[in-house]
Amino acid sequence: MCGIVGYVGERQAQDVVLGGLRRLEYRGYDSAGITVVADGELSVGKRAGKLGNLEKALGEEPLPPATLGIGHTRWATHGPPTDANAHPHTGGAGRVAVVHNGIIENFDELRSRIEADDHVFKSETDTEIAAHLIELQVVSGVDLPTAMQRVCQQLDGAFTLVAVDAADPDRVVAARRNSPLVVGLGEGENFLGSDVAAFIDHTREALELGQDQIVVLTRDGVEVTDFFGVPAEATPFHVDWDLNAAEKDGHDWFMRKEIFEQPRAVADSLIGRRGVDGLLQLDEMRLADEEIRDLDKIIIIACGTSFYAGMVAKYAIEHWTRTPVEVELASEFRYRDPIIDQTTLVVAISQSGETADTLQAIRHARTQRAKVLAICNTNGSSIPRESDAVIYTHAGPEIGVASTKGFVTQLVACYLLALYVAQTKGTRFGDEIGQIMQQLESMPGRIEEVLARADDVYRLAREHVANRSVLFLGRHAGYPVALEGALKLKELAYLHAEGFAAGELKHGPIALVEDGMPVLCVVPPRGRDHLHGKMLSGIQEVRARGARTICLAEEGDTTIAPYADELITLPRVPVLLQPLIAIVPLQLFACELATALGHDVDQPRNLAKSVTVE
Ligand code: F6R
Repeated sequence: MCGIVGYVGERQAQDVVLGGLRRLEYRGYDSAGITVVADGELSVGKRAGKLGNLEKALGEEPLPPATLGIGHTRWATHGPPTDANAHPHTGGAGRVAVVHNGIIENFDELRSRIEADDHVFKSETDTEIAAHLIELQVVSGVDLPTAMQRVCQQLDGAFTLVAVDAADPDRVVAARRNSPLVVGLGEGENFLGSDVAAFIDHTREALELGQDQIVVLTRDGVEVTDFFGVPAEATPFHVDWDLNAAEKDGHDWFMRKEIFEQPRAVADSLIGRRGVDGLLQLDEMRLADEEIRDLDKIIIIACGTSFYAGMVAKYAIEHWTRTPVEVELASEFRYRDPIIDQTTLVVAISQSGETADTLQAIRHARTQRAKVLAICNTNGSSIPRESDAVIYTHAGPEIGVASTKGFVTQLVACYLLALYVAQTKGTRFGDEIGQIMQQLESMPGRIEEVLARADDVYRLAREHVANRSVLFLGRHAGYPVALEGALKLKELAYLHAEGFAAGELKHGPIALVEDGMPVLCVVPPRGRDHLHGKMLSGIQEVRARGARTICLAEEGDTTIAPYADELITLPRVPVLLQPLIAIVPLQLFACELATALGHDVDQPRNLAKSVTVE
């Protein structure tokens, strides 16, 4: 949550910082603000609402010319999204300004301590305390890096803090604990960002800060220490994301562009996974074969869309490897005292790699001696860094807040993991694995076929603008697809949308069905006749109660016509791989319906791309 930018160099700080914030706006858009240091003074501009409000204000009244600045785009935690609560926050004397991502858990206690000394607070945020405390330190005579160290030692919780001091116009100082922060290394200039998107158009050389590290940025260099001033190492990396990949490419929304990128994203996620001998090789797997053979349980932890990818993974892993799999919401996992040991593999799925619930869950798993494997889209983020092994998805930057290509590439990584475990444990013959890999490699083409029929889905979506409630039904691997389809509609169109296992419907939820209510039904391929037949019974039950059914069924399925008021055909694929194509029309449906309703598809209300608070 929240996007942070810092800059020191030769260019106009206002322009560089605003450019970085524009790229980070997906992280939060409740308010935005920027501070520059010019002529020994801080100049602050901030506005509630989207970044556009701040840009407009600064267009009318720019901050003074300056070559050092910090900025913030906010997803509100403490205090509503007002101008006063927007970052940067300043100390009482207006000498130090601070931006913050995370939650300072002991802010109340720290605040009451200094309120007793007549310190007046201007906001309801947890952040402002950090500005006051750092300022108290520099006023007492220590330099900004030392002030940051001393204050970090007092803070509990999660924070990325970036601070500037009006009396120290050549340095930006930042600290990191449990919230993301990367440094961009330029020539005669350096950058800070919550992620590399903040500076990708200036430099591709970056440093990933470790936990509890402080970085001091000047024009000519970067110094890293721990919270006690002891020199520390950050991890250098090269950013290979294409800048165009972060632009909209002619689409109205990043989300729509990302839906159409899915064939490429799936293909990229499969590249280089088979060796010359045909065997699967997952370069990023740093787990020994014996450790995989000894596994007796896999627990998948994730949130939201990633959780639904994990539900699909359960079907594939159990079927191909005969290893029991539990799938659990990361936010619940560590509070139930899970039974795990060194023969448990915990798989954390996260597009951003920064989701706080998932991060805390893997930390808990590691304290119980479980091995942790991350499935992640973001190089150098916290979750893969703290895991024993990683399978990176190669979706490229996902900017739309609602995950799309992130989801399908997570599915690919889950299938690869399942096949790799099957290969290592010997639960599937090599030729079977090769055959499934071939099927997977044909999936980009199948997704293209679904996308070619996007206009039919758009037409259907527009017909449903007046509906306030939509149900989604699925069975087996189609059940998580139904849940994900409903989530997309909730978050984008703000409709009541619910996904159900079709067999569960008659145990209660069928009471929701009303005359004319749209019900989207993910019909399993016919190869699994018992499943297919049972799904048709479920559809029949809702039709009998007046539902208008929109069925997603494979082409050539002649049995479906009497059950479908509307039909969306899907290419023929194996049942376990069907989620990869069945989700696509549901994404298109939600995107188009939300567009027709006039909503901001890329930045839905109340949401943020990366949920770095628990
Ligand atoms: C929904 C969505 C969220 C995320 C969830 C986990 O479209 O994007 O539900 O899936 O917040 O995020 P990651 O995968 O980054 O851990």
